[in-house]
Parts: sequence; C-alpha cells; structure tokens
Amino acid sequence: MIEAILLVGGQGTRLRPLTISTPKPMLPVAGFPCTEHQISRAKEAGIGRIILGTSYRAEVFEEYFDHGQDAGVELVYAVEDEPLGTGGAIRNAANHLTCGPDDPVVIFNGDVLTGLDIAGLIEKWREAEADVALYLTRVEDPRAYGLVPTDETGRVLEFREKPTTPEEIVTDQINAGCYVFRRSVIDSIPDGVPVSVERETFPALLNSGATVIGVVDEGYWLDLGTPLAFAQGSADLVLGNAPSPLVAGNVGDSFVDSSAQVSPTAILRNGTYVGPGATIGDSAIVDASVIFPDVVIGENSIVTKSIVSAGAVIGTGVVITEAVIAELAIIGDRSILESGARVFPGESVEPASTVKAWVD
Ligand code: GTP
Repeated sequence: MIEAILLVGGQGTRLRPLTISTPKPMLPVAGFPCTEHQISRAKEAGIGRIILGTSYRAEVFEEYFDHGQDAGVELVYAVEDEPLGTGGAIRNAANHLTCGPDDPVVIFNGDVLTGLDIAGLIEKWREAEADVALYLTRVEDPRAYGLVPTDETGRVLEFREKPTTPEEIVTDQINAGCYVFRRSVIDSIPDGVPVSVERETFPALLNSGATVIGVVDEGYWLDLGTPLAFAQGSADLVLGNAPSPLVAGNVGDSFVDSSAQVSPTAILRNGTYVGPGATIGDSAIVDASVIFPDVVIGENSIVTKSIVSAGAVIGTGVVITEAVIAELAIIGDRSILESGARVFPGESVEPASTVKAWVD
C-alpha cells in the first residue's frame, strides 16, 4: 500500500475573498473540492493512505472527509499550529507515515488539477533509484513558476524560482507540484520549523549529490491559484478536458445540479457549473463560470468566466466578467463588474454601479 501526503495548508491569498471562510483546496471545482478530485485520482493510482498537511482552517477538511470512509482511502490529519511552509508541512506530515525508510511517498500540492500518471511517476522513481522524482509540465510563460531544467537523462540540473529576466528563463519545464520522495529523504528535513521545499529542500538535495529526476508529463495540468484559473479548471472538468473520476460520465457543455432551477430561456455554456439550489433567471447567460449553491442570478444578466459564491444574489441586467463574488453578496440591478472585480462576503453593490478591478 502506497502512502501520500497532500499539502492543503496554504492561505490561498490570490483567491481572496473566497478563501476567507473556505481553504482554497476545499472550494468546489465542478461541484467537488479540489482535494476530493485529487483523493479520487490518488485512489485510482493505488494509493491507500493519505496524510493531509493542514494549517489554515484545518477543521474544514476533517468535517468534510472525516477519516475517508466515503472516499475509500484512509485519511489522516497532520495539523500545523503555525504554517510550516511546503517543506516543513511535508516533514510534519511524515510523523504519521507508516512505511519504511526506502519506500516511496507521493506528495501533492493541494491546488493543482492534473491528468498526471501517478503510478507512472512512482515507476520512474523506482527505475532511476531516485531520492526524489518531480513531475514537470511545460508552460508557454514560465515566469510565475519554479523552473526545473533537466539533462538528457532526466536528472535535474537546477531549481530556479520565479525567473524575472529573459536570461533566467532557461527552460519551459516547471515544477508541477507533485513529487515522489524516498521516505528517508523526508525524514532528513528539519522537523518543526518553516522550510520551503522549492527554495530550500530541493536545492540542498542537488548540492548534496542526491539523485533528483524530473519527469515531463504532457497531460492536463492547471494550477488553480487565481480566480481565472479556478473558473477555467472547473469548466475543463465539466467539459471533460480535465480528468477526474468524480465527473467522468457526466461531461457536457454545462453541469447543473438537479436541485437548481434554470429558466428554459437561460443559456449555460462553455463548462458552466451550477450548484445545488441555485436559480438562473430568464434570458440570463452564464458562460464558463462557477455558480456555487443557492446563488440567484436575475433575468438578462450575463456572467462570464466568473465565480459566484454561495447564497450571492445577482440582480437583473447585471454584467459580470472575470470577477469574484463572495458568499451572500448582493449585486444591484444593471451593475457592471469589470474584469478583476472582487466583491466581499455580504457586501451590497448599489444598482447601476460599476465595480472595477480589485487592488490588494
Ligand atoms: P497563495 O497564497 O495564493 O499563493 O496560495 P497558497 O497559500 O495555497 O500557496 P501556494 O499556492 O504556493 O501553495 C502550494 C500548495 O502548498 C498549496 O496546496 C497550499 O495549500 C500548500 N501550502 C503552502 N504553504 C503551506 C504550509 O505552510 N503548510 C501546509 N500544510 N501547506 C502549505
């Protein structure tokens, strides 16, 4: 039985205000928390026990998943009183592992949606007798990520976090947030102190001559860290572009929960998800968006590439584009929410207002 660690303790600042009450990995993507999609894919790959490394709003995970009875995987919680960073969280979670020092441990960042061949990554780790195998993906613009150049045999040459100048962009391969570690390597990370796996552990392993390999996977990959990416990830699941056992068999142009009420004249398209108890009014258009439970969208409103959180009420003739509406917000009739706008929980926007991009 293979064990895994799922890192779900981040603050999710880029998705504020949605993450004020709900940790990012628990926000519903196509109706299920990202964590649930990951757990179901891990189970499919033969992983039988997962330790969730939690910190921010730790209790939300256990309330939802308990010990994994419904998920079919044993779930254990490692709670950090103070966030320990990615490396510190992995080390803290390792206190709950039961495997031996030479066994593989799979680590996932809690906010990526992937089609990665998890079992294949473990196999590559085994074949290379590696200390660590990292899943890499290629992106067109790698500036927001950690670059991981490799040699022709797949050995990692360097870790370069968030390059800024063109000379620093030495590859289009980036750290995709999934690793296989030899258990004893995790045990060598200092315990109980903040450590970044990307900035400290990986470079230190290279310096010490450890075998660190990168495995490029060309399959689906998306970091759900920003509102636009979050809406896209949900739409990709609904459309069937992103794989998840939880939505397989249910893919289409939109997904509407059976308890939602959608006017026959409303148009839902491009992977829109409509949650339980939501109401979509006459002639409304909802495009590539995520509509959480109990939302009301008034007639003739147009919502595009946006996230509308639980219980929010959108008036009539409202235009919302690439925006985030937090729970229980009220948007007055004929308002315009421009790209990047964010409305806070319970906030009311007067009718006919224009809300511009939110600046932190
Ligand atoms: P931003 O604040 O928007 O950057 O999001 P984030 O807090 O989730 O940070 P980031 O996306 O860099 O984190 C990558 C993954 O590691 C996510 O799944 C986080 O939940 C997780 N993570 C980050 N820091 C910690 C930590 O201190 N403890 C634990 N347990 N997990 C963490």
